[in-house]
Amino acid sequence: MESLIGLVNKIQRACTVLGDYGGDHSMPTLWESLPSVAVVGGQSSGKSSVLESVVGRDFLPRGSGIVTRRPLVLQLHKTEGGQEYAEFLHNPKIKFSDFSLVRKEIEDETDRMTGHTKQISPVPIHLSIYSPNVVNLTLIDLPGLTKIAGQPDSIVADIENMVRSYVEKQNSIILAISPANQDIATSDAMKLAKEVDPTGERTFGVLTKLDLMDKGTNALEVLEGRAYRLQFQWVGVVNRSQADINKSVDMIAARKKEREFFASSPDYGHLASRMGSEYLAKMLSKHLETVIKTRLPSILALINKSIDELEQELNQLGRPISHDAGAQLYTILELCRAFDHVFKAHLDGGRPGG
Ligand code: GDP
Ligand code: NA
Ligand code: MG
Repeated sequence: MESLIGLVNKIQRACTVLGDYGGDHSMPTLWESLPSVAVVGGQSSGKSSVLESVVGRDFLPRGSGIVTRRPLVLQLHKTEGGQEYAEFLHNPKIKFSDFSLVRKEIEDETDRMTGHTKQISPVPIHLSIYSPNVVNLTLIDLPGLTKIAGQPDSIVADIENMVRSYVEKQNSIILAISPANQDIATSDAMKLAKEVDPTGERTFGVLTKLDLMDKGTNALEVLEGRAYRLQFQWVGVVNRSQADINKSVDMIAARKKEREFFASSPDYGHLASRMGSEYLAKMLSKHLETVIKTRLPSILALINKSIDELEQELNQLGRPISHDAGAQLYTILELCRAFDHVFKAHLDGGRPGG
């Protein structure tokens, strides 16, 4: 049986094609019922680095200023073997095996929507990565929260509103990124998390830059849950430094360095088994699968509602369906019908797939 995360990924892609994605909606939409992991944090807190570590690949745009200007829905698909490749929903004919071209395509596709104005847009870019080295997981990279002087207030507010629209949904799992070399009380990620998830039941706290703390200090107050209490345990990570990136240190070497950091640390040695990017990826995948399972009945209800709504829309368009919109509606309708059976099988205790 196909994995639940894989099925939900397909529906998410279909929704985006139909223009149903995160953002302001007064009605609960199918997209909003689908659980996913949203990555939030201040500019330069280490969001992109965490995503790249989780994927084990170097593929995200970098630079100063507001680099992420459209949400990036990153769907990871674990394969049994074979070539590692990436594919964009907006251009499914091309399979990228050179990940530097993935970076370029994200930049180009961002500009296509924002027209080189450096504005932000809520329309997500969908990127799928197929690899034997990933876990099944869907992550949404969002623009960095910022208060940096020199950036127009309107963009700052637009970013905050866009990020909030993703994380305020009850189905959103919040991956809140804070740098260890800043006071956690001033973390943009934790401020927003506290606002939308005051009980901390869907927030995962990630502390980056543990290697950059002042000598003689450590982050145990945070990592052991005393400074900011969440229902789940905090995860500390060590990503590549700017110097590592400049020297093109690859992700395999970076993961090894990270493992060694925790294993040999007098402060964090006792936590080593639940620290680091690999642990974070596995834990999130497991959690996402659990959340999808508990939400299956309501997802099913929504799929059925959507089938009715879509049928009405199809009827209004009139058959036979010849133009694009009709064809797309028909595709999502077929998809929903196909999944209805599989979801029900999962619900009836069918053996869940990987
Ligand atoms: P984003 O703006 O939140 O996406 O942050 P980035 O992932 O682009 O990271 C910003 C800068 O911090 C980059 O120069 C990274 O190399 C650096 N950085 C991120 N995480 C760590 C870390 O754990 N340790 C060190 N030393 N540097 C890090
Ligand atoms: Na922050
Ligand atoms: Mg970034």
